[in-house]
Amino acid sequence: MELQSIEKSFAGIHALRGIDLGIRAGTIHGLIGENGAGKSTLGRIIAGATTPDLGRILIDGKQVTLSGPRDALRHGVGLVAQELNVIPRMSVIDNVFLGNELARGGRLRLRSMRRRYAELQERYGFAVPADTVVGSLRLVEQQKVEILRTLARDAEIIIMDEPTAALPQNDASTLFDIVRSLRQRGKTIIYVSHFLNEVLAMADFVTVLKDGHLIDTSPAAGETPRTLVRKMLGQEMDLAFPAKTSPVGSHPVLQVEGLSRAPAFQDVSFSVLPGEIVGLAGLVGSGRTELGRAIYGADRFTSGSVRFNGEALKVSSPKDAIKLGIGLVPESRKDQGLMLSMDIMDNMTMPHLGSYTRAGLINEPGRKAATSRVAQRLKIMRPVSGLPVRLLSGGNQQKVLLGRWMMRNAKLLIIDEPTRGVDVGAKQAIYVFLNELAQQGMAILLISSEMEEILGLCNRAVVMREGRVSRQLMAGNLTEDSVRRAAFGMQEDGE
Ligand SMILES: Nc1ncnc2c1ncn2[C@@H]1O[C@H](COP(=O)(O)OP(=O)(O)OP(=O)(O)O)[C@@H](O)[C@H]1O
Ligand SMILES: [Mg+2]
Repeated sequence: MELQSIEKSFAGIHALRGIDLGIRAGTIHGLIGENGAGKSTLGRIIAGATTPDLGRILIDGKQVTLSGPRDALRHGVGLVAQELNVIPRMSVIDNVFLGNELARGGRLRLRSMRRRYAELQERYGFAVPADTVVGSLRLVEQQKVEILRTLARDAEIIIMDEPTAALPQNDASTLFDIVRSLRQRGKTIIYVSHFLNEVLAMADFVTVLKDGHLIDTSPAAGETPRTLVRKMLGQEMDLAFPAKTSPVGSHPVLQVEGLSRAPAFQDVSFSVLPGEIVGLAGLVGSGRTELGRAIYGADRFTSGSVRFNGEALKVSSPKDAIKLGIGLVPESRKDQGLMLSMDIMDNMTMPHLGSYTRAGLINEPGRKAATSRVAQRLKIMRPVSGLPVRLLSGGNQQKVLLGRWMMRNAKLLIIDEPTRGVDVGAKQAIYVFLNELAQQGMAILLISSEMEEILGLCNRAVVMREGRVSRQLMAGNLTEDSVRRAAFGMQEDGE
């Protein structure tokens, strides 16, 4: 495929400028850049989901017009989007053949659909049980369904937009195997990711975008994370963690005792001091997200107690929790956190509109000024009002959720995988920001699967394993090895 002089603007935003890019058949082509650099937009153009304002697309040397995703598939191009596109209520096989002539009724069709599904499974070496309802599958399985769907339509070029952003480590390696095996079978993969090591390990070529410009395309073998970051940011940058600060008080903001909600978590006890960042580490599925939700009042716990600022916490919904000054930034920002059609200001201020209201009137200028201040601190360079957050890049959406609790002056912030799908620069901004919140006395419970984050940011860590606290690690013995051992339930040396 060849892209020539591709241009794309959205009301006021020049998302892509003069993009010239050749993608060789049978390669994995990495596409990287900061949040908002234009990666997803380019992916959507290649997949026919967006039309460029200017420029040409050539496949096998012939110019094509891709008027929609179906048309792109007819030309052999399929997209596995940043937000999955499966229909949760339907079965795997129905999802795979969705929109495919095979799927149109009749027993005969059904049989040929099954035959075709078996063939796919055979040829590509992975599959998902055909009759399972997609909504009940784990994310990586749902992703497989999307990939199979493009393969069912004989896609030769498959664009994957941040396919591992929401996947636990093990599942991510399953996906890498699939991507590599697709290449082996001659497919071309365009791979968008913020995990530079991932891109370097898999890709044959890497293209760097910055502010809508194509900075460079080069063989991955000649690059390192450092050289890529330099191209992405236009400057050197090491991911550095801000210096850790100490708790600012000795009375816990949060005290959890014997908390249980079977089967998700059982008999969990720990506490968080004001100004302290406590990491909740452990493998995905170890009960961390559920624990956070229960403290926040989103789910009930069945036994045990939670104290907040020394008093028994009685919350029956997040609304109560918010009123008390407890915030939660969820793992899945689209389903649980953001109001997608509303703008940054509404998203940041909605849960605590009361603070901008006097005698029943909202102080609009005050609300806007406060939002702008926070947006600036978080380096969200987009208008705070009028632009639906749906149109923000993934990283900026995450910052909006963080900004919400910064404005609220929450006393306790529970934050679940805060840097998934976030670029290096934004990651750094988020770390500095969490650190500042802690310095101001906020108690932070950080759920993270990234070892770096647990080690670099937290004062202490509570490591969960299969719903129970496996170990609590104080600053002195908070090491990669000890976290890992606790997460896998291995004995410490000498214990
Ligand atoms: N439909 C749209 N309307 C308005 N602006 C848009 C639209 N789609 C994208 N944009 C803007 O275009 C720019 C590029 O966005 P894009 O989603 O391509 O970035 P990205 O590189 O994928 O970022 P991320 O890493 O955060 O996913 C951003 O500033 C984004 O806000
Ligand atoms: Mg994107």
